[in-house]
Amino acid sequence: MKLNTVYLAENLEFMRKLESEIIDLIYIDPPFYSGVDYKEFSDLWNSLTEYLDFMKLRIKEMHRVLKKTGSFYLHCDASAIFDLKPLCDEIFGRNNFRKEIIWNVGSVSGFKSQVKSWVRQHDTILYYTKSENFTFNKQYLPYREDYIKTMFRYKDEDGRLYRKRRRGKQYLDESPGTLVGDVWNDIFSYQTITRSKEYHGYPTEKPEKLLKRIVLASSNEGDIVADFFCGSGTTISAAERLNRKWIGVDNNPKAVELCKKRLGVNF
Ligand SMILES: C[S@@+](CC[C@H](N)C(=O)[O-])C[C@H]1O[C@@H](n2cnc3c(N)ncnc32)[C@H](O)[C@@H]1O
Repeated sequence: MKLNTVYLAENLEFMRKLESEIIDLIYIDPPFYSGVDYKEFSDLWNSLTEYLDFMKLRIKEMHRVLKKTGSFYLHCDASAIFDLKPLCDEIFGRNNFRKEIIWNVGSVSGFKSQVKSWVRQHDTILYYTKSENFTFNKQYLPYREDYIKTMFRYKDEDGRLYRKRRRGKQYLDESPGTLVGDVWNDIFSYQTITRSKEYHGYPTEKPEKLLKRIVLASSNEGDIVADFFCGSGTTISAAERLNRKWIGVDNNPKAVELCKKRLGVNF
């Protein structure tokens, strides 16, 4: 397998040719069982069983190619999450389920807001590792202004803000910020901001900020990151910017072309 390459391929066939335990981080954003036929790819299935069989074969291969210290993120939504979770538990082991991440995609408008129900406002990302020994780098967000005002109330002679701790002073400029938890409210989806400059116009494209967070948390520089449903290449672009090695796979020629343009590489 050549690294830093996007492959135009059916991902199951592609993965079956890979050696075992070679990848550090896998993120996938597969069809969600939404019943929508996007122009670029179809998410129409004859039955839930057909969809779950498709996913099971592929997740099994992803588990095989992942290193013992590797991590796996499956992006999905309420369409099939309650069916995908037991499937992943079976493949990875229930003990290796780490977190359910809720990504608040923001409020939708237009026809999606007309449903006779609560308006859909989040995606779910299931996070698994292959074992108990895995990479995890905690992520932080800057403190909110009101939090700083309330908590860092004291000022040094040289103007540095701090708060009092049992063991002394904690300076604001030495504090990492607020730990990122498992509910992500700070990243907008292209469903709500379609005019973003970063948007490449690929259906269901994810923002790079989302993938940067995952790549930073679950890999280190030089590690290998893979996305076997890579679409417009959001994961591999984040991996490239963060000095990871990467591979992308998609069976849609348009997606692969877009990845090439986006990464500015000729594979
Ligand atoms: C939801 S999109 C991924 C979007 C991507 N996360 C992004 O940010 O652009 C799912 C992708 O999986 C691809 N795909 C679906 N089935 C596939 C298969 N069996 N092998 C390879 N790619 C597949 C589709 O062509 C589509 O581009």
